[in-house]
Amino acid sequence: MIKYPRMTMTVVNIREEANDIFTIELAFVNSNCDIKYFIAKPGQFIMVQVFGVGEKPFSIFHSVETSLSFTFKRIGSVTEALAKIKPHDLLTIRGPYGTEYTLSHGRNLLIGGGYATPPIRMLAYELKKQGFEEPTIINAARTQEYLLYSQEFNKLTNAYHEATDDGSRAYHGNAVELMRDLLTQEKFDKIYISGPEKMAYFAFLEAEKYGIPCEISLERYMKCGVGICGSCVLDPTGLILCQEGPVLSSETLRNIEDFGKLLRNKTGSIEKI
Ligand SMILES: Cc1cc2nc3c(=O)[nH]c(=O)nc-3n(C[C@H](O)[C@H](O)[C@H](O)COP(=O)(O)OP(=O)(O)OC[C@H]3O[C@@H](n4cnc5c(N)ncnc54)[C@H](O)[C@@H]3O)c2cc1C
Ligand code: FES
Repeated sequence: MIKYPRMTMTVVNIREEANDIFTIELAFVNSNCDIKYFIAKPGQFIMVQVFGVGEKPFSIFHSVETSLSFTFKRIGSVTEALAKIKPHDLLTIRGPYGTEYTLSHGRNLLIGGGYATPPIRMLAYELKKQGFEEPTIINAARTQEYLLYSQEFNKLTNAYHEATDDGSRAYHGNAVELMRDLLTQEKFDKIYISGPEKMAYFAFLEAEKYGIPCEISLERYMKCGVGICGSCVLDPTGLILCQEGPVLSSETLRNIEDFGKLLRNKTGSIEKI
């Protein structure tokens, strides 16, 4: 049996979460693959292929024995094609790939930013399902329209905080500013982050000041997703993010000099973040 199979799945539903942000729910169709290999953990990703257009990685937002969902922002060729998908269409996926968040007991702070929030949402569900302590959650976006999964987060914890860059809802400021405020009032044992890399980087620096260990999901340009093409390699360690990430610990991140500063683009050239 192949551990990381490729599977064609049926689109059950596509819904617009916010302007240009969509969630697609896929159902398993009959297959010669063992479905247990598709059950994903929070932080892992799948490669989604649109025939004739391309294949891109997406974080898994929800995964059970019968279905799998992901959320995406319409930004370029693949996501443009995905936004036109209709129920009953077929999509081919590979995975799940990559490292997962490590669940820990204690006072956990979960921080999600923009449309990179799906792994945080899945992590919050997993913590609840497995009977871990209720986490504190920060959900941040540019404006209130882009705050994803607010109702679900509200049900998952009594310590749910929102931040908007323009102050259109709740805290006026970004995720890191709200995090700074919380850290002056409360003690946390661990911080889990998924968001734009600049945000993740400054949140990481803040956590380092307080000596709190972090796990961060990093998004870099990925082509193969299985360690062959080198497009996701992080300098100077040569860490292959699609295999050794996307979730990285503080110990690993301390040695990644290009974290928050530089990345490889589509062509493999290095550019500023
Ligand atoms: C592990 C992982 C998980 C991801 N999870 C999600 C997710 O849950 N939802 C989601 O919407 N996206 C996610 N992404 C990013 C997703 O793969 C990109 O949105 C997708 O590549 C855009 O594809 P496209 O063909 O539509 O755009 P393209 O035509 O490839 O690109 C459009 C523009 O976006 C830039 N761009 C594309 N991908 C990236 C990237 N990874 N980092 C920085 N700039 C980029 C390009 O340089 C270009 O300017 C994830 C990426 C990784 C590596
Ligand atoms: S995406 Fe090809 S090596 Fe990581």
